[in-house]
Amino acid sequence: MKVVHSSTYDINIGKGSLQTIEYSTYSAIAILVDEHTKMHCLDIFLKESQINPNLIIKIHSGEEHKNISSCKHIWRQLTNAQFDRKSLLINLGGGVIGDMGGFAASCYKRGIDFIQVPTSLLAMVDASVGGKLGIDLEKFKNQIGLFKSPKGVYIFPDFLQTLNKRQIISGYAEIVKHALIIDKNYWQLLMETSIEKINWEDIKHIVISLINEFYSDGKDLILGKISKSDEKKDFKEIEKKIIKILETKIKPAVARDGGDIKFIAFKEGTVTVQLQGSCSGCPSSTITLKRGVENLLTHYILDVKRVEAI
Ligand SMILES: NC(=O)c1ccc[n+]([C@@H]2O[C@H](COP(=O)([O-])OP(=O)(O)OC[C@H]3O[C@@H](n4cnc5c(N)ncnc54)[C@H](O)[C@@H]3O)[C@@H](O)[C@H]2O)c1
Repeated sequence: MKVVHSSTYDINIGKGSLQTIEYSTYSAIAILVDEHTKMHCLDIFLKESQINPNLIIKIHSGEEHKNISSCKHIWRQLTNAQFDRKSLLINLGGGVIGDMGGFAASCYKRGIDFIQVPTSLLAMVDASVGGKLGIDLEKFKNQIGLFKSPKGVYIFPDFLQTLNKRQIISGYAEIVKHALIIDKNYWQLLMETSIEKINWEDIKHIVISLINEFYSDGKDLILGKISKSDEKKDFKEIEKKIIKILETKIKPAVARDGGDIKFIAFKEGTVTVQLQGSCSGCPSSTITLKRGVENLLTHYILDVKRVEAI
């Protein structure tokens, strides 16, 4: 089993991951499922984790049910079962269950703990990490929500076996997108791998890289404009190394999406880069890109501790 640590919670990945869920301190435990994860994942989850829940809450699957009515159903069930502030909600499902379950838990009695057990590929590689929670408001996707970290994320790859091809492809597309941003070698590996033969071992390291991209630290992305006088041409050795990595490993992928990335400064462990074009407009892709750059630079250059994007 692989554990990825962050400042707020751990992501546990692999066969034994469900056995490591820490639940003994909670007054009551509920598991949120939809009809598919109830059918395909719940028994496996209970057997692996050895958890004996007080309540199973089932909602209808699909984006059209990621709304306040489903939340009311969750809150009513928790209330009827007299769940108090020390109880735990386990979200067992795809991105819809994770986003909505986390949101419902964060509001119930001003917030109870929740953990994410993603069962779709998209949720494993993207939705379950980062602490972005929410529901849709009519046609407005993720209109109501908040950032809050789960107590932990537990990724059990065997759940993928019952996922239909459409869902696998949807998650795989997210992996490909991120691979393009993070590293040319990942991209090449993906291009050589037929989607029919996707093997967890083939994509595991990519997934772990993605998971590393925590974008829940709530940092302000806009640092303010760097003045022209901050730009310079005589670079130190370490700055040259940083620029080389940016130019060879990141810039080509960013350029394919119509954007650009530029080195601005390196000071006290922090690399400042400027994002331009398509990569600078969307907060989510900015954060994802920033994390990708940070992963790569901290991996290759020990003195680099963080990356700020302007
Ligand atoms: N919070 C974030 O950072 C973030 C990031 C990306 C996407 N999302 C959200 O995630 C949602 C999409 O996630 P999704 O694609 O997982 O959708 P989903 O949760 O609707 O799951 C897709 C379908 O697969 C079924 N399913 C899930 N796991 C299964 C399994 N192991 N076996 C069989 N069937 C299974 C579900 O019941 C559902 O019918 C969207 O609402 C999106 O907004 C959130």
